[in-house]
Amino acid sequence: MKVSVVGSGFVGSTAAYAMVMQGIGREIVLVDHDKARAVAEAADIAHAVPFANPLTIRAGEYSDLEDSCVVIIAAGVGQKPGETRLQLLQRNADVFRDCVPQIVQNAPGAVLLVATNPVDIMTHIAGEIAAECGVPTSRVIGSGTTLDTARFRTLVGRHFGIDSRHVHSHVIGEHGDSEVLTWSLATIAGLSLQEFSEVSGTPLGDDAIDTIDEQVRKAAYRIIEGKGATHYGIGSALARIVDVIIHDQRSILTICSRIENVAGVSDVTISMPHLLGGKGVMASIPLMLDDGEQARLRASATIIRDAIDSISL
Ligand code: LAC
Repeated sequence: MKVSVVGSGFVGSTAAYAMVMQGIGREIVLVDHDKARAVAEAADIAHAVPFANPLTIRAGEYSDLEDSCVVIIAAGVGQKPGETRLQLLQRNADVFRDCVPQIVQNAPGAVLLVATNPVDIMTHIAGEIAAECGVPTSRVIGSGTTLDTARFRTLVGRHFGIDSRHVHSHVIGEHGDSEVLTWSLATIAGLSLQEFSEVSGTPLGDDAIDTIDEQVRKAAYRIIEGKGATHYGIGSALARIVDVIIHDQRSILTICSRIENVAGVSDVTISMPHLLGGKGVMASIPLMLDDGEQARLRASATIIRDAIDSISL
């Protein structure tokens, strides 16, 4: 199974490293407009292979994307301290106009997995460009709020002192400031969080909820303030998504994809729980949200739709 990464900066190279350490894929190709960077990242990560799982990793050109099952697109600029993801839109749209046609031309059968922010709109743009070459929107996805959902589950798990893998909750909407934490549907052992709180004797008051919400929503800003970028969380999320695709695992992840109508907003690329398999999106799953969550989802979808309308392809 061949996985390619276009954009060998912090995020793309960390995703490649995560795949090596978890044995995801048999061949990884790194492409970057800065060829020296791609060569150096591939060489460095290749030195981890002897400590992990046998696979080949190398730098290449767009022509080396041929036969890729998945192409991760992590090309473009990242947030600077204090910058929102939406503020990256115009610069990264220009990058995509150049790289996406070359990706589709050389890997026409691949699932395109967008990581570049603002990831929802960038996934929409990639899908529009790829559709011109006959690529269905089901094969153009973005990491969306996969990482935010993991952050949410981790913090709820930490609050109750349990393994986050046993917290079932979702972050949906924009991967950004307007994202929606679906508290009303969160469960542990089949119990609502309030029921689990009573059973476990661990209170879950408004202060704790507000604190967790803020920590999820502002996580990236804090990390960027301290080290200039996030990449371990998103790199691991990308590796997880690739693993689901190349092994047709039919998992449910809050990736983003183009959806006909979300909360009354038409034709928007947004994060919802998606059933993901070997050929990309199999279904997007609507949630029975409470009125407040539904209103916040509509607001988030509107922000994405307006940003999409602001960009001339
Ligand atoms: C973050 C980046 C991937 O949330 O947007 O860490």
